Amino acid sequence: MNPTDGSPKPPILLMVAGAAGAVASTVAAAVAAASETPSAVLPALTTADRFPYLGSPQTMAFAGWDVPQRSLTEALRSHRVIPDAKWRDLDTAITAMPLLEAPDPALKLRDQTQQLMDEMRSLRDALPHAHPVLINLLPACETCGTDGIESADELLDRSDPAAFPDLAYVLAAIRSSIPVVNFTPNAVETPAICREAVRAGVPIAGRDGKTGQTFLKVVLASAFKARRLTVDGWYSLNILGNADGENLMDPARAAGKMQNKTRLLDEILGYAVGHRYGASTHKVHIDYYPPRGDAKEAWDVIDFSGLFELPMSLRINLQGRDSILAAPMVIDLARWLAAAQLAGFSGPLADLAFFFKKPVGSTPPLQFHDQVARLAEFESACAQRVGKDNS
Ligand SMILES: NC(=O)c1ccc[n+]([C@@H]2O[C@H](COP(=O)([O-])OP(=O)(O)OC[C@H]3O[C@@H](n4cnc5c(N)ncnc54)[C@H](O)[C@@H]3O)[C@@H](O)[C@H]2O)c1
Repeated sequence: MNPTDGSPKPPILLMVAGAAGAVASTVAAAVAAASETPSAVLPALTTADRFPYLGSPQTMAFAGWDVPQRSLTEALRSHRVIPDAKWRDLDTAITAMPLLEAPDPALKLRDQTQQLMDEMRSLRDALPHAHPVLINLLPACETCGTDGIESADELLDRSDPAAFPDLAYVLAAIRSSIPVVNFTPNAVETPAICREAVRAGVPIAGRDGKTGQTFLKVVLASAFKARRLTVDGWYSLNILGNADGENLMDPARAAGKMQNKTRLLDEILGYAVGHRYGASTHKVHIDYYPPRGDAKEAWDVIDFSGLFELPMSLRINLQGRDSILAAPMVIDLARWLAAAQLAGFSGPLADLAFFFKKPVGSTPPLQFHDQVARLAEFESACAQRVGKDNS
């Protein structure tokens, strides 16, 4: 982290809330590996060839906050997302990444935010050439009691940081002019936060990374719609055995994620799936199943019809890896947000709908092909505004 030691200047500094979690520690390993063994990381990024004016994704920096239990290497070992042999040689680089203690939950939100702003300034001072981006990777929380709060100052006075710890990180980032990625299902993009982001000239992107089953659902639903095949029902089941899966067994904490996973199908198709039965036939279940750890499995049964309303059916079985799917998206998002900030965009970015289950911002594209096209348009808009050609 010493800018005077002659090492290459990292163009992006990922500041991560929840830094020792399964996704975040995988990101830390990927950041370290990007410079040592770029062939293991860069092909998995969708931005490796984008934003040449941002510098190379080979030299990024990682720092973050977590509750004080373990180091990043202990976290990597315990999550068992990446076999030890694949990151053992990166041990020194990973150990050098700053891991700060999360603010005391007993502190008021205003005090937590101030503490985080001070820490963000120190992290930034250590790498003055880097573009910092806050990545929210905290656990899913319950609905967060921010309804009716109109301003960031009111949020600071009235919100309960113990129930909604994300707010302190997001407010601290916005007030430090640091763009925000909300990868969690937590509804941090309240009207007050969005207004504050616009006022501060800070872009924010979210909500809820679209990594596995929902990614495929958006692709397939867009294809069904394009072919005028009518979806009569869609049954989705997930099993996963990581901390996120365990946390989501609490129905109050899972509520946001379930809504994000469910609503988008009707929105893409343009009709209510199951309307002829008088109730939705889009069913989504998540089950915590410890033997699987981070190796999530998902099944989808899709009942659909075509000419003469004759029924057909499709089955999908995804054997994925939650954090391996998520980590490159986090790095891509950090690069998009840095580019968006350089280009002067602020507030919620609907253009990044490609990455999220519940894209924020005004009228985000819903169909997969529109989301891909919108990314290319936004890339050009960013390049134009910073005065670079897009090559
Ligand atoms: N993996 C995926 O594919 C995926 C997809 C979409 C969304 N998400 C979301 O991303 C988030 C992270 O997922 P994960 O699997 O890494 O979860 P995780 O439970 O492994 O990590 C969360 C981390 O946050 C830490 N933490 C808790 N409170 C904190 C606080 N106040 N300050 C700082 N750190 C704190 C925990 O100690 C933990 O290390 C979750 O909200 C999850 O729903 C993940």
